[in-house]
Amino acid sequence: MTRRTILAGNWKMHKTVEESAALAASIAAALKDKPSNNSSAAHEVVVCPTYLALDRVIAELKGTSVLVGAQDMHWESQGAFTGKISGDMLRALGVTYVILGHSEQRAYFHETDETVNKKALKALAEGLKPILCVGETLEEREGGVTEKVVETQLRGAYAGISAQDALNTVVAYEPVWAIGTGRTATSQQAQEVHKFIRGLLTSFYDSETAEAVRIQYGGSMKAENAAELLAQPDVDGGLIGGAALKADTFLGIITAS
Ligand code: 13P
Repeated sequence: MTRRTILAGNWKMHKTVEESAALAASIAAALKDKPSNNSSAAHEVVVCPTYLALDRVIAELKGTSVLVGAQDMHWESQGAFTGKISGDMLRALGVTYVILGHSEQRAYFHETDETVNKKALKALAEGLKPILCVGETLEEREGGVTEKVVETQLRGAYAGISAQDALNTVVAYEPVWAIGTGRTATSQQAQEVHKFIRGLLTSFYDSETAEAVRIQYGGSMKAENAAELLAQPDVDGGLIGGAALKADTFLGIITAS
């Protein structure tokens, strides 16, 4: 089974609208003549700017193969939810992916497995593709409960999602201790957890579905470590923070893959 590598830049709370448009334009320009980004090729490239910049970035990337994702959404279509954005609004704008359950949302904004699940079900109903983030803290890894934590998060995220809808999801394994720290999981550590995640997906669905779902690694991925991580049999892409904020470092990862 060959899964198409998915390399997604999570720009987090960085860049003005103008800066976002400029970064998107330089990524698209650099990829334009590369066969690697044809729709039939091995890579799928996604950028996830702030909500504010989505419209401009989508316009900037029109006619290119680079896709756009949002960093979160609410599970209701509309209503009195000050400060929130709905999946309906994202879909209407032309957004393809939506990151859900990022560890920063869990740590700072009360995201729970239950809210991740509500958002995921709504995203799928809207035709958006959720990137479902899971991952343990350093304390949890050192306490030997990585698998337990990842299983609880994954089980929560996929509750009530059909096998057919699961095919439109992506899992991002992001060990919290590797995010923004410069400390990357070794390729062996990543592969172990990715394999465990695929086993869980097999138990939720069936092996055919589990083999088709892509599992990204996230946490200090850069050009220097991307090739080795992506060479692991169950590592199907990357969710990239810091190194996605500049065209050359992001493109370095795409080239390395
Ligand atoms: P860094 O690549 O900066 O470690 O961030 C990873 C991440 O959180 C992507 O969602």
